[in-house]
Amino acid sequence: MLVRMFYTSCRNMTRAKNFALLVLCLLIAGILIFNTSSASSDDTNKEYSMVAENDSMVVCFENFDDTRKLIFDAGYNDVDQDASSDTVIYFVTPTYPRREQAAEITRLGQTLMHVPNLHWIVADDTESCNPFLNQLLKKFGIPYTHIASPMPVFYRTRKLVPRGVANRRAALSWIRNNNKKTGVLYFGDDDNTFDLKLFSEIRTTKKVSMFPVGLIGDYAVSTPIVSNGKVQGFFDSWPAKRKWPVDMAGFAVNLEYMALSSNVTMPYKAGYEEDEFLKSIGLKMQDIEPKANNCTEILVWHTQTKNNKPPKIRISSGALQNDKVNLGTLLRQLESMGVSHISQSEGTAAQITKDGKSKSLLSWFS
Ligand code: UGA
Ligand code: MN
Repeated sequence: MLVRMFYTSCRNMTRAKNFALLVLCLLIAGILIFNTSSASSDDTNKEYSMVAENDSMVVCFENFDDTRKLIFDAGYNDVDQDASSDTVIYFVTPTYPRREQAAEITRLGQTLMHVPNLHWIVADDTESCNPFLNQLLKKFGIPYTHIASPMPVFYRTRKLVPRGVANRRAALSWIRNNNKKTGVLYFGDDDNTFDLKLFSEIRTTKKVSMFPVGLIGDYAVSTPIVSNGKVQGFFDSWPAKRKWPVDMAGFAVNLEYMALSSNVTMPYKAGYEEDEFLKSIGLKMQDIEPKANNCTEILVWHTQTKNNKPPKIRISSGALQNDKVNLGTLLRQLESMGVSHISQSEGTAAQITKDGKSKSLLSWFS
């Protein structure tokens, strides 16, 4: 705006043929333009795109401002007070569009709201940035990066689909591209359950820390075996000849340690993602730091949300468009989230109940 005003007054001076003043104008204009561009690069909230070399990846939105009202400030959280260490946890969450997505992200976001010094990388398994998801992410006030990183079509048709891999690869690219050299990396799926104590535990990771994950496989737990404070082996009901038979949620990696390896990757190999990733960072048994009180506590649970088909609700367009009643707004919103569908001809008829009696919407509104 300022630049445009200045330009207009300079043009007027040209007509007056005042050469000296014109030179002065150009000089000041130059300073103005320089200031405007450097101010915008200072902006903490950036919206821009970036495409990685091989996998497709778009950064949808980033926020570096921490505007959370943290519970630990109010003295409720005594578990992550060592946030005095300014080590940042890069919490990587693969997610994908399905009817439970908004619910999962709400629950996880509200857990992460209590964790200081955390940057949440949410990588969505989609072609393009989902504005609804971004609105949801923004609300938490957590510093975050929202990425759209679809699984290559080729892998989707496989019998065993490598879930969340394109997303985690995109997050690794983001860390690399943004020169994040210090901090701790953790892969936290959108449907797991995290104890707040987990964060103070992994924040002190020097190389690679490991800890038990509850609700895994036929043992209902996957954990390192620890004696004398050292990891001696692993207890996991699916060994599958893996060198590192652990779950994705069962380890954290220090970024300085990770940077020592040049071929860090997570391959599209269902069931072997953890093993291959840990091999790619050159992990050795003696590098592992057991956490969670020598792996005697469960601080993360491999919970799984039941996946039901979105139901179809039969409702007339008149009732749906009626803005005097809440129902249309609500059902349209759930439709846009993929939670349920609205139809005028199929599905369960929408009825309203009062005093134990159900009525069709039409008769209710008439
Ligand atoms: C288990 C492990 O805990 C995962 O870390 C591992 O990626 C997965 O197996 C696997 O190897 O297939 P599980 O609960 O069986 O996890 O899988 P999901 O929770 O369905 O998916 C893992 C993550 O990938 C989730 O965060 C999910 O949102 C995401 N995902 C899933 C996608 O991004 N795209 C998909 O098509 C499916
Ligand atoms: Mn899961």
